[in-house]
Amino acid sequence: MRILGHFYQRDEIVKYADFVGDSFMLAQAAKQHPEAVSFVFCGVHFMAETADILSGPEQSVILPNLAAGCSMADMATIEQVEACWRELTDVLGTGGRMAASDGGLQPVIPVTYMNSSAAIKAFCGRNGGIVCTSSNAQTVLEWAFESGQRVVFFPDQHLGRNTAKAMGITEDVMPLWRPHLPLGGNTVEQLHDSKVILWNGFCSVHKRFTVAQIEKARADFPGARVIVHPECPAAVVEAADGAGSTEYIRKEVEAAAPGSVLAIGTEINLVNRLQQQRPDLTIFCLDPVVCPCSTMYRIHPAYLAWTLESLLAGQVPNQITVDAGVADDSRIALERMLAAKP
Ligand code: 13P
Ligand code: SF4
Repeated sequence: MRILGHFYQRDEIVKYADFVGDSFMLAQAAKQHPEAVSFVFCGVHFMAETADILSGPEQSVILPNLAAGCSMADMATIEQVEACWRELTDVLGTGGRMAASDGGLQPVIPVTYMNSSAAIKAFCGRNGGIVCTSSNAQTVLEWAFESGQRVVFFPDQHLGRNTAKAMGITEDVMPLWRPHLPLGGNTVEQLHDSKVILWNGFCSVHKRFTVAQIEKARADFPGARVIVHPECPAAVVEAADGAGSTEYIRKEVEAAAPGSVLAIGTEINLVNRLQQQRPDLTIFCLDPVVCPCSTMYRIHPAYLAWTLESLLAGQVPNQITVDAGVADDSRIALERMLAAKP
């Protein structure tokens, strides 16, 4: 048995984890430990699904509290994604390769952020697409543009926009897809002109960060280095000194010179732990109103204790099992993701 923990887990969980990482590292860990009979996944539902898909058929994956979901992942359902795809392919052409006059490129490549259901990952696998995490999103988009004219990016508009902007793609060719409106609220022309179609999803924790908070941090601590997660809005990422995954943020803190000040825009459990690990630095969260990810927080130590006691008693509680057909298609998109190194 191995306990896997995401960086956002509370300290009372992290101290028991065999392996702590960002979502890319945790997906790798699930694949790279065939000796483990089971993984107790201290994170959220889509991460546990991914671990089930990438681990062996005899290995079980357990989510100590089944209510640990992700509100961003819930913002795109497979039915909405399939309806969007039907409309896009009606307007832009079928999923097959286009004629040489179109550069031989597929009209649109589906890319989904790791923070999505296994059904959406499977959809991407079936349609020439791929999964990304916040640590390899640019490499993934580069991969997608090798075979496609444009990308539709589910479900986090901010990660999609921030990544595309860093590649020099301008916002006028990034229409927002609102799932309840015909053509996502866009015109046929806007979709034809697009490079990255952004699903209208967001993270309720990261959307709280603002440019005003960054300005205040710089005024209070001249010389402070500001680093944020790319789920933050584009204006916040642009006003920061750096943006990246939770592992990127951890490495920035590790590399900081003694005495430095770091203002961080991400979940509070990680920020507080980084301060504890580096007492020689001044580290604080940009958001003065402490805001943990409420779903990550649902992995309470009592649930972990119950899970371990059940395993000792020979039971496998709260097992996450992805349907075999969905798992096979998802694995295609996830293996492409693992090949796109951060
Ligand atoms: P990371 O891949 O950076 O760990 O992000 C996962 C996540 O859900 C951040 O909100
Ligand atoms: Fe989902 Fe946001 Fe929590 Fe990450 S921080 S798990 S994106 S709700």
